[in-house]
Amino acid sequence: MKQKIKIIVLFIFVCGSAFVFTRSGQMQAKQTDGKKTAAEVYKNIQVFKNLPAEQLIKTMEIMSSSLGVNCNFCHVQGDFSKDDKEEKQTAREMILMTVGINKNYFGGRTEVSCATCHGGKPHPASMTPLGENLFRRPNFNQTKDAMPTVDQVLDKYVAALGGAGALAKVKTRTIKGTRAVNDAAPIAEEVFAKSPDKMLVVTSFPQTSVSTAFNGADSWTLGGRGATAVHEDELEQFKRDARFLFQPAKLKEIYKELTVAGVDKINDKEVFVVRAVLPSGARERLYFDKQTGLLVRRFAATPTIIGAYPIQIDYEDYRAVEAVKIPYTTRWSIPGRIWTRKITEVKQNTAIDDAKFNEPKK
Ligand code: HEC
Ligand code: HEC
Repeated sequence: MKQKIKIIVLFIFVCGSAFVFTRSGQMQAKQTDGKKTAAEVYKNIQVFKNLPAEQLIKTMEIMSSSLGVNCNFCHVQGDFSKDDKEEKQTAREMILMTVGINKNYFGGRTEVSCATCHGGKPHPASMTPLGENLFRRPNFNQTKDAMPTVDQVLDKYVAALGGAGALAKVKTRTIKGTRAVNDAAPIAEEVFAKSPDKMLVVTSFPQTSVSTAFNGADSWTLGGRGATAVHEDELEQFKRDARFLFQPAKLKEIYKELTVAGVDKINDKEVFVVRAVLPSGARERLYFDKQTGLLVRRFAATPTIIGAYPIQIDYEDYRAVEAVKIPYTTRWSIPGRIWTRKITEVKQNTAIDDAKFNEPKK
């Protein structure tokens, strides 16, 4: 097997991959304007040299989830820079192969990622699956119901939440709840939010409490290791979470393009899928329950050189708080981790000082 991989990698190199790497190297260099590269921050980087350093752990999480393994599948304890495991070296070859396939066959778009072949397993299947009678699937005359327009979907959503008028009257929210990470016991979490996009989340872990905030201009996160900047793409998600709290009636201002893409199912319920493009060009998908009109899922992905890093946010258990509805359960899923916030108490329109969202002075 090793031999085969070597040959494939060699093949890709011979077929112009030096060119691939100088070109993608330049592309990455543009993206990393002013930011450190992985090679500058970590000790033993051979293939991810030009990757923005802040993406290194994301690519590690993509690789782990794509193969369904832990970090120690490729790494030895104590030092991630060591090359003691054959799997780590194979992974390097796989990274080069994946980048090469995309370059040579997909015009440089990351269509193929580790997950395409591995699908959650270390050893991809090379045999076609058996069992399902695919030839009798009745999908020739799929009824093509007329799709609603974006405006119809958005209007129904806003109406289901209580209407634009009622939503506009909510200027602040103080939320108490719990956060559960994977199977761990829930811990306390508080959210302070002010229209249109100021938000402070305080999570009380057993050893330390972590605060993350956006004050309309700047963001910060403060935990056991002191204050740090929030990564750009995480900040984007944080801001979006905040704006979704207050501006569900203004999705057309948040996104520059919205299109109804089709119907799908989430937990056996039919949903309308809306493709959404942000002013930055980043794409998301919004899923609205066909029956209730409520937003049940938001999906976003950050591109990396080996494929997209996905984040999925599920909204459940909508309940009325005075004249509007909010989801009492929100679940964030990223590769290898899921955390859930369950609200226990919400107060609306209590005064919150703007200073609360500013980074505390040292
Ligand atoms: C499928 C194999 C694989 C898995 C799983 C994996 N890694 Fe890696 N990791 C690599 C490879 C390959 C490199 C070196 C990349 C390069 O040479 O550019 C690396 C490098 C690193 C580095 C940089 C070390 C240094 O100083 O040079 C860190 C940190 C790291 N991994 C952390 C993790 C963490 C945390 C996880 C689990 C979430 C993880 N890795 C899972 C293959 C893996
Ligand atoms: C085009 C398909 C394809 C893609 C894309 C792909 N792999 Fe693989 N990978 C394979 C095949 C096939 C094997 C050999 C499996 C076996 O030996 O059973 C393999 C083996 C591996 C192994 C060795 C497993 C072991 O137990 O020794 C690692 C590690 C690995 N891949 C990591 C990755 C990573 C990380 C990515 C993404 C950067 C990736 N692969 C992308 C097809 C692929």
